[in-house]
Amino acid sequence: MKLKKIELSTFRNYDKLELEFSKNIVCFTGLNGQGKTNVVEAIAVLGLLNSFRTNNYSDMIKFDSKGFYLRAEFVNKSGRELEVKISYDGEVKKIFFQNKRIIRFSELWGKIPVVYLIPEESLVTSGPPASRRDFIDKLISMIDGEYFSALNDYNKIIKQKNKILSAMKTGESSSYDMLKIYNSKIAELGSLIYKKRKSFLEDFLVLFKNILLNISDGLYEGDIRYETQSDEKEYFKSLSENLSKYLNTEIRRGTTAVGSHKDDLIFLINGRQLRNYGSKGQHKLFLVALKLSGIEYIKSVTDEYPVFIMDDLYSEIDDKKSMKVAKILDNDIQTFITTSSGRIIDQLDPKISQLYKIENGECIAV
Ligand SMILES: Nc1ncnc2c1ncn2[C@@H]1O[C@H](COP(=O)(O)OP(=O)(O)O)[C@@H](O)[C@H]1O
Ligand SMILES: [Mg+2]
Repeated sequence: MKLKKIELSTFRNYDKLELEFSKNIVCFTGLNGQGKTNVVEAIAVLGLLNSFRTNNYSDMIKFDSKGFYLRAEFVNKSGRELEVKISYDGEVKKIFFQNKRIIRFSELWGKIPVVYLIPEESLVTSGPPASRRDFIDKLISMIDGEYFSALNDYNKIIKQKNKILSAMKTGESSSYDMLKIYNSKIAELGSLIYKKRKSFLEDFLVLFKNILLNISDGLYEGDIRYETQSDEKEYFKSLSENLSKYLNTEIRRGTTAVGSHKDDLIFLINGRQLRNYGSKGQHKLFLVALKLSGIEYIKSVTDEYPVFIMDDLYSEIDDKKSMKVAKILDNDIQTFITTSSGRIIDQLDPKISQLYKIENGECIAV
């Protein structure tokens, strides 16, 4: 997938911006706080309909403006042009794909694959289990609509169950029957989610191990293990049993304690847990390898490379490793890089890269 053209109107600190891209590496430079991340945020929103910085479209409206407008022209591997338009007036989101109004996000989901690597994602390797689940959940959802909707349904049920549990804790109500219905749904959907995560992980690991070894110059052997309270051999049965077994604990706590929303991934580097023993550099490289493997995974399933965004990559890993990462990226992967580091710019090959300088919401080709 290639992004050919982008338009922004009163989006973040941009009044109006139109850019056309003809190269595979597009680099935005400039001092901090000038609008580099804002541009790549717009690209992510156009592909994924969600920002990586906020869940609230209102945050992206330029201060003192009434709304924003975004437009992108993508072209896929077979040369087909794909147009996405998003307008938001502070109340209503209007999203158009090929001039057809999109009502549900899922209608566009996966059509424009975008993978991003942003500094905040250091949480994937060092943060709580939710950050790791979120990483694989997003990736699998992008290529598997069934997973996407199962996960949505599952999360809704967990929310509703939590409401009941919290009300039961304070003695406001007692809805055992409702809890039983929710639990059977949780076991059913939870098992589906588990199965899909496991089968994803199997294919993903092959790519991941290779990539980590490669970008670490053969230093790091990586591994990922799935961790769950349930018996993996009989997940459904075991989850169902646990749901009954811990029902009273859940009521006492007023919140859910059992389910695939409690599962985790254990990251290992040279046989040791990254979270407990990993150096800062190892964490960063592990994360980069996770992202690059995500890209390869999407390509292996859909035959289409996603658009790749690396925000502030070069503050994340040292220059030598950064270049190695850039070289590993297949020539076919269009990559948007933001950086305030001048050293990297000197190393970009002008034949394959476009460079922009951003200053206070103005973007100028250099
Ligand atoms: N909704 C908004 N309207 C106008 N300006 C905004 C908005 N949101 C953020 N900004 C401004 O954008 C700038 C930060 O842009 P950003 O892209 O994060 O910078 P960087 O170049 O460091 O990546 C800040 O000056 C901030 O005040
Ligand atoms: Mg930034």
